[in-house]
Amino acid sequence: MTNNPFRIPVVIHADSMALAQVVAARIAEVVRAKPDAVLGLPTGATPIGTYHELIALHKAGLDLSRVRTFNLDEYYPIAPDAPQSYHHFMREQLFQQVNIDPKNIHIPRGDVPRDEVAAHCEAYERAIVEAGGIDFQLLGIGRDGHIGFNEPGSAETSRTRLVVINPITRQDAAGEFGGEANVPREAITMGIGTILVAREIILAALGEKKSSIIARAVLGLRTSDVPASLLQGHPCVTLHLDGDAAADLAG
Ligand code: PGA
Repeated sequence: MTNNPFRIPVVIHADSMALAQVVAARIAEVVRAKPDAVLGLPTGATPIGTYHELIALHKAGLDLSRVRTFNLDEYYPIAPDAPQSYHHFMREQLFQQVNIDPKNIHIPRGDVPRDEVAAHCEAYERAIVEAGGIDFQLLGIGRDGHIGFNEPGSAETSRTRLVVINPITRQDAAGEFGGEANVPREAITMGIGTILVAREIILAALGEKKSSIIARAVLGLRTSDVPASLLQGHPCVTLHLDGDAAADLAG
């Protein structure tokens, strides 16, 4: 079901599996049309189903050998082999189970020395440009409206950089780290500006705890207080929601 009165096009799915199938099918379509497509990829609970479906499509013949990938973000500091790192997450949830060439995988590093972070971020931006820009960007959304680790207040022109993580976001990650105190205080994230130049964007959200922020992103004004609302006006963006995440959109 597509609803037009919203400030961002919305598709509401029967459940998380239906959402995952549709989003993975769209990624497959992008890759079939352009075998060396550049994909922007998120971590989190939301994309796991989509990655699962993408793995199934790969096993059924979808070739990902020429695809290039850029992940949105990584905690800082964190070692790439730490179980909570996004490097680890991506290996487990996707990369080990498909034929993406490791040399085509890019994830910001959480283990570069602090005085090299700025250069690392600039190199990350350059690598995206050299790859031809992001063809398809998949996003989740935080309870505070963040996309990537672009927390409220992030400028729409922001680029890959070191940021401070919001308390609400650190609370949401506390379980994985065995307590909020262990969650890193910073992260390296693509910026809002990096995300907005992607040619196509899908933001996926599942569950009731995302419903109020989804309503603010879709019905409210475009504001950096709700980073996901900055997707309003992108020429090719769609929000894919389950019924619970869409609950506050009903008129
Ligand atoms: P989640 O995280 O998919 O685990 O809910 C989304 C996000 O914080 O971007």
